[in-house]
Amino acid sequence: MRHLITVDDFTNDEIDDLFKDATIFSSLQSCDMLQGKLVVTLFFENSTRTRSSFEIASKRLSAKVVNLDISTSSSSKGETIEDTIANLSAMKPDAIIIRHRNCGLPQSLTKYVKSPLINAGDGKNSHPTQALLDLYTIKEHFQNNIKNKKIAIVGDIKNSRVASSLLSLLPRFGIEPILVAPACFMPQTKFKTAKRLEDVIKDVDIVYSLRTQIERHEQSFYKTLDEFAKEYCVTKDIVKDYDILLMHPGPVNRNIDITDELLDDKRCKVLRQVTNGVAVRMAILKKLIKG
Ligand code: NCD
Repeated sequence: MRHLITVDDFTNDEIDDLFKDATIFSSLQSCDMLQGKLVVTLFFENSTRTRSSFEIASKRLSAKVVNLDISTSSSSKGETIEDTIANLSAMKPDAIIIRHRNCGLPQSLTKYVKSPLINAGDGKNSHPTQALLDLYTIKEHFQNNIKNKKIAIVGDIKNSRVASSLLSLLPRFGIEPILVAPACFMPQTKFKTAKRLEDVIKDVDIVYSLRTQIERHEQSFYKTLDEFAKEYCVTKDIVKDYDILLMHPGPVNRNIDITDELLDDKRCKVLRQVTNGVAVRMAILKKLIKG
């Protein structure tokens, strides 16, 4: 039995095969691949895209889905998360999908489950399915010619599980990250860094904007998000007409992370990422449930 806790759980060959399946699923048509299977989702943190994407992916494959409502679950009666997972697992679902604010929790829960566990985001640690759908979107755009492409990742990199997973995954496929952030949002890194997007825009093929993870900050670094946006919002003035891809994992803080104008620009792939997310998650569910 396999789990997907970090991007390192799949080899490059497995990811290539996964993407072949995602391409087959890319029209998001329904099929009976997982007929009779049952998927449980447990979201202890807010989610719009990831949770509905997993639910739609499961249902497109004809699996049934049980979304545990955390606010009415026994977590509020003092049950430990380990016991919650062990009890859900005892009901024999075919996969469990979890999002939780504690870094490393999904890994530690693998010993309590008897079905594949999929990490839908753990604190600032890891968000493997987001990184996989982003890589799929990049490969799709460049028709698989992604070696030596450069991606500027812009914003609160230090607190972003999306950035952390992208930084583990993309270099494995020959994509070079350049981290663009103020000192307060810059992690320790072996990759190239830049203070401003203007300094590297001419060298990159992709600009990946991030949301400022205020809910994870222990102190406030900027008086207002507008202050941050003055230096780090991705704008038309910066990206001009360069031949680049614009990406963001959502939720977007409009005109803080990236401008309205660029969200409407034909280079912007934000909604394509969302569509591809369903296809990639269909492929992941198939791989982990059917083997
Ligand atoms: C991200 C997350 O939850 O980590 N959203 C997502 O899953 N698409 C990014 C974010 O919250 O900023």
